Amino acid sequence: MSDGKTIVLGVTGGIAAYKACDLVSRLVKKGYKVHVIMTKSAEHFVNPLTFRTLSGHPVITDMFSEPGEWNVQHVSLAEKADIMVIAPATANILGKVSHGLADDMLSTTIMAAKPGCPVLFAPAMNVNMYRNPVLQENIKKLTDLGYFFIGPTEGHLACGTQGKGRMVEADEIVDKIISLLEGKKDLNDFLDKKILVTAGPTREALDPIRFLSNRSTGTMGYAIAQAAHRRGAKVYLVSGPTSLVQPPGVEITRVESAREMHQAVMRIFPHVDIVIKAAAVADYRPRDAADYKIKKKDKPLTLVLERNPDILWELGQIKNKRQILVGFAAETENLEQYAREKLEAKNLDLIVANNVKEEGAGFGGTTNIVTIITKGGETIKLPRLTKLEAAHAILDQIRIQAGIN
Ligand code: CTP
Repeated sequence: MSDGKTIVLGVTGGIAAYKACDLVSRLVKKGYKVHVIMTKSAEHFVNPLTFRTLSGHPVITDMFSEPGEWNVQHVSLAEKADIMVIAPATANILGKVSHGLADDMLSTTIMAAKPGCPVLFAPAMNVNMYRNPVLQENIKKLTDLGYFFIGPTEGHLACGTQGKGRMVEADEIVDKIISLLEGKKDLNDFLDKKILVTAGPTREALDPIRFLSNRSTGTMGYAIAQAAHRRGAKVYLVSGPTSLVQPPGVEITRVESAREMHQAVMRIFPHVDIVIKAAAVADYRPRDAADYKIKKKDKPLTLVLERNPDILWELGQIKNKRQILVGFAAETENLEQYAREKLEAKNLDLIVANNVKEEGAGFGGTTNIVTIITKGGETIKLPRLTKLEAAHAILDQIRIQAGIN
């Protein structure tokens, strides 16, 4: 099952480091090669000898002093790794990685991870540290960049408090590692496919200062672009204004308004096999956008809005038989019915529906709960997943629709 895959396990300084011993032992029993890197503070909790004995490999604790099994250890370990797992992961290591700091063996090895090598963090810390907005911002940034997280869970914490901050148990981490490694088998299943993804909101100008827009952050669309690229596709991302980092390897066209998005999509559409329209396009724009700042008056202000082009509908009219069209439906009620109606009306192959009012779904946030409906009438309800996991699940369904083996 393990195919002799190599796992680099980073252990940082927290009481949950003792659980990492169980983790190493379970992974070794499954046939994985495990190389452990410990931070200085981790050594206060577990003796490196324990990991050395359990893993059967030297434990790396210091960037400069360990006798060299490899010449440049952080690079050769990063080269060898099929996956990197940091368990427990403290606020400190998350802060370092999210800011590109590499000042010890572990942070340096993580920075040198090969493209496509999953990096999984299992955080463990005090509940208030976990809630701290700075840490949450770091987790969000790392998630957006494609790093994986498992936990923490609620429970009794070593500091004597109760709350979210416990590292998940070793068996759950093992399951997650297996699912991430098995996912890698398909990494090239979209090789040679050209995919156009749209993401984010559009902005419809009222005057040079103001605009109408919506709550889309672009996270779902960017996750799809990133996942499709990892699976070998050539990805064209047409993005409305977002604060997200451009996914590596993806060709991006930035637009503001629905009409600009329309233009960009129509230019790229003839060259692609698959279109995934995750963008939240404004249906209307102010009819009379002023080219000066609108001054306030005592009377109420009436805005007249006119229709924007429905980009996806147009694509449904002109697509050829080989092109696969995927829409999104953001709804607040009658989810499946409205989604099915959009699938029909826009001549789609697949629609991804989500109830934006549901906790853990919709705009912003790192997770989504989606239902995928196919042209053939199949309905696939997915559980709450990270947006990147949801992106992979959506691609799995597209792969079936497109008849990709
Ligand atoms: N869409 C589009 N162009 C528009 C409006 C929507 O391409 N002018 C696409 C979206 O990118 C999405 C799908 O159509 O993939 C459905 O968008 P949604 O806003 O849920 O539905 P609408 O068709 O706009 O219908 P309504 O607002 O009435 O729900």
